[in-house]
Amino acid sequence: MDRLTKISIIGAGNVGSTFAYTLMLSGLASDIVLVDINKKKSEGEVMDLNHAMPFSSPANISSGNYDDCKSSDIVVITAGLAQKPGETRLQLVEKNMEIFKTVVPAISKAAPEAIIIVVSNPVDILTYVTLKVSGLPKERVIGSGTTLDTARFHFELGNAFGIDPRNVHAYIIGEHGDSEVPIWSLANVAGVRLTDFCPLCGMNYDQKAMDKLFEKTKTAAYKIIEAKGATYYAIASGTLQIVESILRNEKSIMTVSTFVEDYYGVSDVCISIPAIISRDGIKEFIKLALSDDEADAFRRSAKILKDIIFSLKL
Ligand SMILES: NC(=O)c1ccc[n+]([C@@H]2O[C@H](COP(=O)([O-])OP(=O)(O)OC[C@H]3O[C@@H](n4cnc5c(N)ncnc54)[C@H](O)[C@@H]3O)[C@@H](O)[C@H]2O)c1
Repeated sequence: MDRLTKISIIGAGNVGSTFAYTLMLSGLASDIVLVDINKKKSEGEVMDLNHAMPFSSPANISSGNYDDCKSSDIVVITAGLAQKPGETRLQLVEKNMEIFKTVVPAISKAAPEAIIIVVSNPVDILTYVTLKVSGLPKERVIGSGTTLDTARFHFELGNAFGIDPRNVHAYIIGEHGDSEVPIWSLANVAGVRLTDFCPLCGMNYDQKAMDKLFEKTKTAAYKIIEAKGATYYAIASGTLQIVESILRNEKSIMTVSTFVEDYYGVSDVCISIPAIISRDGIKEFIKLALSDDEADAFRRSAKILKDIIFSLKL
């Protein structure tokens, strides 16, 4: 191996520890550091992960503090409060912003060369906070954004059509939250627009039925949190895909939250649009040919986020 690959994870709760587990199974990292304000929790997670190692890939997994994040290639932030049943992501903003005001400077000091991936909610706002507090170039601060929502959308559509969700190409852009926007006008399966694909599956294209699938996508987190208290497997898998695209310079296109300037008139906000992810972080974003209604919905979603950012007086 040319060099070691080190990933630090801040927050060893449901999301952080599940991500650490997927990362260990992937074999992508040689060093994994877990940092949590609750040291006992991160130590317990590390012991459990280490005992799974003989069944998977060897790695140095440890519980540490910010100094131990030194030389990390990537730092993933999952620290903070999670939604309670019925709570929106945006309602978490003040408490999690306070946490980020201490966490981000500590990361910047310990690992100034790292790419930071933000997962904590409200992810778009906290990605913006991370960008401003760290002073890093915009390419190196990535929010998991609507990566998860796009995956949930692919699952719902693939399930409805009886096909592999990986063959569905349909994006959710905008806020990772209640104002997110499905891009129906470009949605396709194997290059065939949904209006033409439905008849191939013996279905009539019915926009109302499609809208219900989007509604299931958008409200999925509320249902899961109601049922089991938290969501973590899917976000851990999505975060792993972002990490993999960075480490292997894959240039995968994912709907991550990124700082945008003049995207359909939207500027100075972190919001999800399809972006190419490379070894340097966000390489470029893709300008989708949105319909007028979709562009309007995207601008409305951005305004919700911008109003919150403005109220934070960063
Ligand atoms: N972006 C997404 O798609 C997505 C999906 C699921 C969850 N989330 C978010 O991820 C976050 C974590 O969710 P969870 O279910 O793992 O919550 P959790 O409560 O299980 O874990 C959070 C962890 O953060 C730690 N923590 C709190 N303050 C800290 C600090 N200052 N420094 C270090 N660690 C600190 C806590 O001790 C805890 O272990 C939440 O904000 C949640 O909303 C995002």
